[in-house]
Amino acid sequence: MVKELIGRDILGIADLTTSEIQQLLELAIQLKTGKIKPQCNKVLGLLFYKASTRTRVSFSVAMYQLGGQVIDLNVSQTQVGRGEPISDTARVLDRYLDILAIRTFKQEDLETVAKYAEIPIINALTDLEHPCQILADLLTIQEKFGSLSGITLTYLGDGNNVAHSLILGGALMGMNVRIATPKDYEPNPEIVNKAKQLNQNSTEILITDDPLTAIKDSQVVYTDVWASMGQEDKAQNRIPIFQPYQVNQQLMNHAAKDAIVLHCLPAHRDEEITDEVIEGKQSQVWNQAENRMHAQKALIVSLLGI
Ligand code: CP
Ligand code: NVA
Repeated sequence: MVKELIGRDILGIADLTTSEIQQLLELAIQLKTGKIKPQCNKVLGLLFYKASTRTRVSFSVAMYQLGGQVIDLNVSQTQVGRGEPISDTARVLDRYLDILAIRTFKQEDLETVAKYAEIPIINALTDLEHPCQILADLLTIQEKFGSLSGITLTYLGDGNNVAHSLILGGALMGMNVRIATPKDYEPNPEIVNKAKQLNQNSTEILITDDPLTAIKDSQVVYTDVWASMGQEDKAQNRIPIFQPYQVNQQLMNHAAKDAIVLHCLPAHRDEEITDEVIEGKQSQVWNQAENRMHAQKALIVSLLGI
């Protein structure tokens, strides 16, 4: 385990230090290779206000493999879905569960739960951040390139949750992070400033609307859906706006020769990424999806101290 993390909440990737992330990635590799097999008798709750395949299943399987139990709290069948204050729900769940992962819209709701519950609370995606995803992404990049420091990652698409956690996580790990978005879809400036403070301007953080400048010689090319959960009504209007940011072979030709392609999934083929690229030789998306489980197992083991 990473001892420093026992009992903590992970509401954003920058709740972790560079050293803690390094240790978590090392632990994830030990768990992945079966070198260590910690066991526990604890219960993880999953309180999800949005759909999920990878996060729900990878958290569940990780917990089962650790010998623990999982309660999937379907919001539509719990009282919080009928208007019970989330602060009350938090205080009650705190009395039953050992650890709780939440997927919701507002970061403030996650913060409220963390304030009212003593148990470790994990951000399983909000509109602001997706820290668990980024831990798996960093693991995937480290596996491929042997280290993170100095690696250049370009994200193309919407400047929201996944991009935010990539900027912060990349800055913490000494990576160069370039974000290319259409105008008006840039990442939150507060997140960008926080990332610049974290890396003390030692690595590149580029926010641009030019996909070609961003991708040039980049070693990691990353994209996400153009309309996130909760924005379904905006999806059609966004297609022409985001089209220049599509990860296709033509654009990939400007990346480094040994570049890898990542996508948090679910993907909309031939929108943000072409079928050719996601199925192509540079794609690491399936390894990346698998790594969700190993990275989150390392996180659970550390937060619970097992
Ligand atoms: N990448 C990710 O979080 O996938 P799910 O929405 O399926 O959990
Ligand atoms: N940005 C996407 C990520 C899904 C894992 C969303 O919020 O829907």
